[in-house]
Amino acid sequence: MKKNFLVLAAALTCAVSLAACGGSKKEEAAAGGTLKLVTNAEFPPYEYHDSAVTGPAGNDIVGIDIEIGAAVAEKMGKTLEIEDIAFDSIIPELQSGKADIGLAGMTVTEDRKQNVDFSETYATAVQSIIVTKDSDIAGPDDLAGKKIGVQQGTTGDIFASDDFGDENVERYPKGVDAVQALVQGKIDAVIIDHEPAKVFAGDNDSLVLLDTAYAEEEYAIAVKKGNTELLDQVNAALKELKDSGKLDEIVAKYITAE
Ligand code: ARG
Repeated sequence: MKKNFLVLAAALTCAVSLAACGGSKKEEAAAGGTLKLVTNAEFPPYEYHDSAVTGPAGNDIVGIDIEIGAAVAEKMGKTLEIEDIAFDSIIPELQSGKADIGLAGMTVTEDRKQNVDFSETYATAVQSIIVTKDSDIAGPDDLAGKKIGVQQGTTGDIFASDDFGDENVERYPKGVDAVQALVQGKIDAVIIDHEPAKVFAGDNDSLVLLDTAYAEEEYAIAVKKGNTELLDQVNAALKELKDSGKLDEIVAKYITAE
């Protein structure tokens, strides 16, 4: 309804003054159209499937990142569209222009910066270690020589491979698969971002989260390299969300303070 009104208003402006129509093509595209967000919805509370609800894009995908994406799209006057793909396909999809923004609890790293541009950061995060209650692993140092499970392509994967050797890292398509393998005794530990770690370990009595964080990092929104127009819009929307307190509100909805 609101959209129709805007289109009508634009048409009227054009009828009244031709000059007002200059650049209207571009404005029209910006006013309508979709903002395509790519994510990997296996990462609660940032993005996950919840069959009990309808998310901002009209499907069952919800979470902190999804609400941030919805707010950014709204500020840009666009309709949010979400594609749920493998985590390590997100950067290629942005590079090929198949999607506009990557919002997936994605950590800013120097390597990734070679392939995409990142917005201002919107969250700090740590990599946590999950072990079984009876484990002799008490901190990062005890991980040497152990089998470590990670979600493929994540910073947990990259850091664990660097620190403990490729051969000691088991890669799974989803973080929850790694946690399942841990429960089944196939691996000795899981390295994953703290918030999903809390969700995954909290779901299972036989697991604990170690107190020592493994690595500290920051999340940002990724866009195609060189797309400064979009990046500026994303940053402006993020800044508004931060300044207005809306971002804190979104986070508080999904994460209870520890
Ligand atoms: N922060 C980690 C990284 O950037 C993990 C992100 C995983 N996100 C997801 N939606 N599965 O590598």
